[in-house]
Amino acid sequence: MHCYSKVSLLALASVASVASARPSAPTHLDTRSSTEACANGKAIYITSNTAQNAVVAVPIAQNGSLVPSQGSSTSTGGTGASGITAASGDAAGPDSLFSQSAIAIAGNYLFAVNPGSNTVTMLAIDAQDATKLTVVGTPATLPGEFPNTVAASDKYKIVCVGLTGAKAGVSCAPYSSSGIGAVDALRPFALNQTTPPGGPLNTVSQVFFSGDQMTLFATVKGDPTVNNTGYLAAFPMQNTRSSCHVAPSVAASGVTSSPSGTAVLFGTEPIKGSSDLFVTDASFGGAVLSVDSTGKAATVGKGVIAGQAATCWVAISPATNTAFVADVGVDRLVEMSLADGSIQGTPIDLTAISAGDPGLTDLRAAGSFVYALSPGNGTTDASVVVVNALTRSAVQHVSVAGLGLSKSAQGMAIFV
Ligand SMILES: *[C@@H]1O[C@H](CO)[C@@H](O)[C@H](O)[C@H]1NC(C)=O
Ligand SMILES: *[C@@H]1O[C@H](CO)[C@@H](O)[C@H](O)[C@H]1NC(C)=O
Ligand SMILES: *[C@@H]1O[C@H](CO)[C@@H](O)[C@H](O)[C@H]1NC(C)=O
Ligand SMILES: *[C@@H]1O[C@H](CO)[C@@H](O)[C@H](O)[C@H]1NC(C)=O
Repeated sequence: MHCYSKVSLLALASVASVASARPSAPTHLDTRSSTEACANGKAIYITSNTAQNAVVAVPIAQNGSLVPSQGSSTSTGGTGASGITAASGDAAGPDSLFSQSAIAIAGNYLFAVNPGSNTVTMLAIDAQDATKLTVVGTPATLPGEFPNTVAASDKYKIVCVGLTGAKAGVSCAPYSSSGIGAVDALRPFALNQTTPPGGPLNTVSQVFFSGDQMTLFATVKGDPTVNNTGYLAAFPMQNTRSSCHVAPSVAASGVTSSPSGTAVLFGTEPIKGSSDLFVTDASFGGAVLSVDSTGKAATVGKGVIAGQAATCWVAISPATNTAFVADVGVDRLVEMSLADGSIQGTPIDLTAISAGDPGLTDLRAAGSFVYALSPGNGTTDASVVVVNALTRSAVQHVSVAGLGLSKSAQGMAIFV
């Protein structure tokens, strides 16, 4: 089902559901559901993860194309750092952080991790010009090492960071228009890692909130070579009823589960309208997980991708209602079902447009388009490829090296 037929169904549904209760339903309800489903993004954001860490913004034209010549770079005031590729002992890159969501958006705010200074920076997005960013307050110091992933709840105004160094775990803090507040104690993960971490196995992959923002999840990669299974950790939100005395917060302890048939859980996106999650697993491809009321996950279905190297990142397209997954070692996107993780069609080969990208990492979707980062490997430029999700064709490939991005670049957020 493509974007436009979905919108007309949404519009019909909202007309039908309000018709009996409120005969003179305001028409703007219909407009809003159509813009949410189909609006193109205004800009994408990527962290440089260089010594002087910066957030690079690239504006999106009305037709969905990127305009890097009008991009910007804003210093986070923190320090980037790369993990160590365990197999070679070299600084990691592409995939310098072994993570999805090194940068996250909530409302008009962006949050970016600074792995080298153990801080997280909050920035405000200018409503008139999405490439104009302003740091809010000072970067917040975290009670652990090597932050590599961040999630923010717009509903509860809470930001949570995953850390994967010698002191690994998750910490959270409230935020307001004046900046990030007091950071809470680390919810530790026993990874026995170093700082910087040796990866990608046995590291934190991603923190993210459930669709209803009532649960904070973290995916943690196992290491099949030492019989160490990865897991999904779930921490409930507490004190969410409005009260003058107690602010909402993320519980100090949670539950973990290791859904059958998964080992190296990586990037995730909650599936809208359900409590299911779409998750990549670097050891085989992608899977759909169901989550019960206690926060434990079970495998609904999985898709094993032939010829994959490491399928690690995912974005769900609102236009197709399917997942697009990226592999750091193969220059293509694979489309997968949100019902059971099955592979849809043939892989979208990008070698013809990409001029030798070794593979793709972080990606995001808005409107009909998917934006996927290839940080390059030091030989090839960092670049972004734009794919039309409906036609399954690449429409643009642009270098973002001129904006200061190189093989350490990580994370992608999109402002719609
Ligand atoms: C999209 O818009 C940009 C900026 O206006 C323009 O440069 C580009 O040629 C357009 N692309 C297509 C495929 O129409
Ligand atoms: C922790 O890692 C060190 C090496 O970094 C290793 O010697 C030690 O056996 C590990 N401990 C556990 C419990 O895995
Ligand atoms: C791996 O763990 C499983 C379950 O604990 C155990 O049955 C199996 O023997 C272990 N394999 C190795 C190679 O240690
Ligand atoms: C980077 O990737 C290109 C294209 O796949 C390859 O030709 C080149 O040798 C790679 N460079 C390094 C440093 O791995």
